[in-house]
Amino acid sequence: MKAALFYGTTTGNTGDIADKIKGSWDAGELELFDVADSSLSAAKDFDILIFAIPTWDYGEVQEDWLEVWNEVDQLDFSGKQAAFIGLGDQFGYPEWFVDAMGMLHDKIVAKGAEIVGHWSVEGYEFEESKALTDDKKHFIGLALDEDWQRDQTDERISDWLDQVKLELGVF
Ligand SMILES: Cc1cc2nc3c(=O)[nH]c(=O)nc-3n(C[C@H](O)[C@H](O)[C@H](O)COP(=O)(O)O)c2cc1C
Repeated sequence: MKAALFYGTTTGNTGDIADKIKGSWDAGELELFDVADSSLSAAKDFDILIFAIPTWDYGEVQEDWLEVWNEVDQLDFSGKQAAFIGLGDQFGYPEWFVDAMGMLHDKIVAKGAEIVGHWSVEGYEFEESKALTDDKKHFIGLALDEDWQRDQTDERISDWLDQVKLELGVF
């Protein structure tokens, strides 16, 4: 199955994570797309889609993602499996932690994708997030905090990828 990872990044953290995911992905081809210079329409050629998005400016969508935000509404994600990675700062912005990941998730779900890769909130400290499951025990994707918990990132990525591959049946 062909996989693609779409990401946007302002100060480089999400770009670095995209490179790490590509380096760790061992379930066939994984193509990276920086949304600053790629159209989301490329998603139609892939079965597995990973979306990586940081939150900026008190719960706002990162600037390059904002440029392609309305493209999502033109696309059909039915029959595709999608997973999300959200970057944020839980202590600097505890009321808006990884909000943009939740906002993107809601749009992609509305266009028919099946979601894999929910991730426990244990080990994080924050007040509110738009990226939680209904029972608030999980994020709807992998939350990463490069500002305060960078030392946990590699292990989180490794564990999450194992889980995602299992859920996708591509391990
Ligand atoms: C001005 C500013 C506003 C931010 N706002 C939020 C926010 O509302 N929620 C959050 O979780 N993180 C917030 N962050 C943290 C960034 O999401 C975090 O630093 C992320 O790793 C940046 O990713 P990037 O380098 O790929 O752009 C903010 C950071 C800055 C500098």
